[in-house]
Amino acid sequence: MMKLRVYEAAEDSLLLAKHVREYAKNAEKILDMGTGSGIQAETARKANRKAEIDAADINEKAVQKLKKKKLKINAFVSDLFSNVKEKYDLIIFNPPYLPDDEKEDFNSEKWSGGKEGIEITLKFLRQAKAHLEEDGKILLVYSTLANPEKLIKEANKLGYDIRNLDSEEFFYEKIYVAVLFLKRHTEPL
Ligand SMILES: C[S@@+](CC[C@H](N)C(=O)[O-])C[C@H]1O[C@@H](n2cnc3c(N)ncnc32)[C@H](O)[C@@H]1O
Repeated sequence: MMKLRVYEAAEDSLLLAKHVREYAKNAEKILDMGTGSGIQAETARKANRKAEIDAADINEKAVQKLKKKKLKINAFVSDLFSNVKEKYDLIIFNPPYLPDDEKEDFNSEKWSGGKEGIEITLKFLRQAKAHLEEDGKILLVYSTLANPEKLIKEANKLGYDIRNLDSEEFFYEKIYVAVLFLKRHTEPL
């Protein structure tokens, strides 16, 4: 069986964490999808001591490592929402978004975002709809390396409004952090 490396916090993680810190404050139930090192779940925990925080990853090693930290975070293995039963006020996802042909040697299919890089994100967005509370929000990372125009178009078709909160340019790509909510949402963000 292919051994997966646990994704260590990188620039994309830090950019996202900046916004998790704010959005977590007003959420009672939070899901950190693809938790990796656990940086987003831990950031949420620091920002909000009372929230119920779940953290899921397809990589068992990431889940075991996070469990060992004994934080008040419920970590479990899940392929996207396969083992998720509940609804959340906030779902966080920094997805794998490298298109297949750009993946590095250590990558397996679990690190790549699919052929164009957005397939896992779109699958996530399709499934997430059933797991958002009425005014639930998603914090999502996406990249110019992975067909952002198509991602936004498809997210809109699925019924999401998408607003960019932040971006950072690196020498070969620009990374965005966006907030998404289902169009039924009425409150100010
Ligand atoms: C870019 S890393 C982000 C890690 C961490 N959340 C962060 O911000 O640094 C993407 C994570 O998604 C996980 N992942 C990939 N495919 C997944 C899937 N189908 N279901 C759940 N997690 C998945 C990977 O194992 C990895 O930990």
